[in-house]
Amino acid sequence: MIDQRMQDAINDQLNYELYSAYIYYSMESWFRNKGFLGFANWMAVQIKEEMCHAQIMFNYVTDRNGRVLFKGIDGPNNDWDSPLHIFQAAYEHEQIVSSRINAIMDLAIEIKDHATAQWLQWFVGEQVEEESNTSEIAGRLEWAKDSPAVLFQLDTEAAARVFTLPAPLVAAAAG
Ligand code: FEO
Repeated sequence: MIDQRMQDAINDQLNYELYSAYIYYSMESWFRNKGFLGFANWMAVQIKEEMCHAQIMFNYVTDRNGRVLFKGIDGPNNDWDSPLHIFQAAYEHEQIVSSRINAIMDLAIEIKDHATAQWLQWFVGEQVEEESNTSEIAGRLEWAKDSPAVLFQLDTEAAARVFTLPAPLVAAAAG
């Protein structure tokens, strides 16, 4: 049975992962509207990843005989200035997610919930990747600011991003 405080913390984070997907949907729409189809693809993959993060949390709470409770999701910003603005915002958002994951880890350690601490390790590593991915593109866009040719090159590269099922869901699917 999962500790009530831990169930509440993971529920909050599950809802925040859905909020993350909401933000990236807003960003995808902006890119599609402006004709940046590569960045739009990048965001579409990101949305799937966020939905998977929520699913991993759903599975874990359920496996621990807990209860997943859904809450209202705040509306995302829909007003973006540029690709650079979007990826800077994505990087800032991922840093918030990392601090939230770290806070759940702190709670797991505090209440000696070893199972959750072990399970959460995957998210700790995932957040390193999430921050790295968004900051790298934001940095390259910063350099490309005055060069439409480089901007469209980056958009083309972003078109190559493909979705892969996160490891915890591959393991779950294998039973
Ligand atoms: Fe689910 Fe982008 O962290």
